[in-house]
Amino acid sequence: MKITKKHVLLVTVIAVIGGIFIGCKTRFATTQANNYTVTPSPQKLVRGRELAMSICAGCHYDHTVNKFIGRPLEDIPGIAGKVYSANLTHSRTHGIPTRYTDAELKYLFKTGVARDGRYLNYMLRPNMADSDIDAIIAFLRSDDPSLSAADTTIGLTHFTFIGKIYMGMHANPVAYSDNIKEPPADKVKLGYYLVDNLGCFHCHSGSLQKLNFQYPDQTPGYLAGGIKLKGINGAEMHASNITPDKQTGIGSYTIEEFRAAMVKGDAPGHRLKPPMPKFDQLKPEEVDAIYAYLQTVPAINNLVKR
Ligand code: HEC
Ligand code: HEC
Repeated sequence: MKITKKHVLLVTVIAVIGGIFIGCKTRFATTQANNYTVTPSPQKLVRGRELAMSICAGCHYDHTVNKFIGRPLEDIPGIAGKVYSANLTHSRTHGIPTRYTDAELKYLFKTGVARDGRYLNYMLRPNMADSDIDAIIAFLRSDDPSLSAADTTIGLTHFTFIGKIYMGMHANPVAYSDNIKEPPADKVKLGYYLVDNLGCFHCHSGSLQKLNFQYPDQTPGYLAGGIKLKGINGAEMHASNITPDKQTGIGSYTIEEFRAAMVKGDAPGHRLKPPMPKFDQLKPEEVDAIYAYLQTVPAINNLVKR
């Protein structure tokens, strides 16, 4: 048989499709049951509430019922499927954390792997300090009214064939490691820690698909904005450039203006709209640390339309 260009093309196509499927791993190893358990304390609950309201609420909290009952996520194109976050309340039938051990929750945050082996990058926080993870888990187990049992579901995530291939190609769990004990004490380093763990860089960089969870500042277009997000009633929004560029970023923000933007949603000259969260639970020194850190990142000239 003569090997023609057609044959070569066919073999290449088969190899590429095969490669995509092999690359499409959708189940990963999960934690071996270990002895990690969280002992609650009043300090942990306060810190855990602050973190949960600043990180998890954006995707899991419903402001009409003031509970963590879950929400639909609007930023996934319909062609890939539909994603709903989970019910985090104490419901025995619908509350997902009731099915998790403390060790499995920590593993989910550190590696992005759920207890059933699925990769869920929304929760991936490889650089989060143990003390903060403890605090979040203590809060999730607490009797805070926002977590009291709600036996409801807002919908179940499903992916189309295209969505599954896409998710498989982008699944990238981080190896488990727990060598960070406390958030950094240094102001600028604390600012970087918060920009990482509060997820500012997820929305404010160049692409949701190219986020570098382990080394956030290596994410393409780091903090230079431009990602298209869905706002109120599906309105198209673009996350701002928050590098210190004077023309297109926040280089001319004063510290007072920055505080007002973060805590009240009052940016100079305009009100900030969702999905930009209101970070009204952060401590003043944390807001100031974020400001100090943002001054140190390279200024990128990138005009983002509002
Ligand atoms: C960017 C949005 C986002 C953020 C922020 C977020 N989550 Fe989620 N979370 C999701 C989505 C979406 C799912 C469901 C994914 C699925 O089932 O496909 C989920 C699922 C979960 C699950 C269930 C996993 C399972 O086995 O089904 C837990 C537990 C959880 N989140 C806890 C948290 C906690 C605690 C925080 C804050 C530290 C948090 N999440 C922050 C979007 C988010
Ligand atoms: C869920 C996505 C999301 C997250 C997380 C997020 N932002 Fe935003 N942010 C936005 C969007 C969208 C806008 C634009 C809002 C508007 O124009 O009304 C914005 C606007 C801003 C602005 C106003 C800039 C201007 O245009 O003048 C600042 C400052 C800012 N964000 C800082 C932060 C910081 C710091 C964090 C982390 C602590 C953060 N954001 C987390 C989406 C997000």
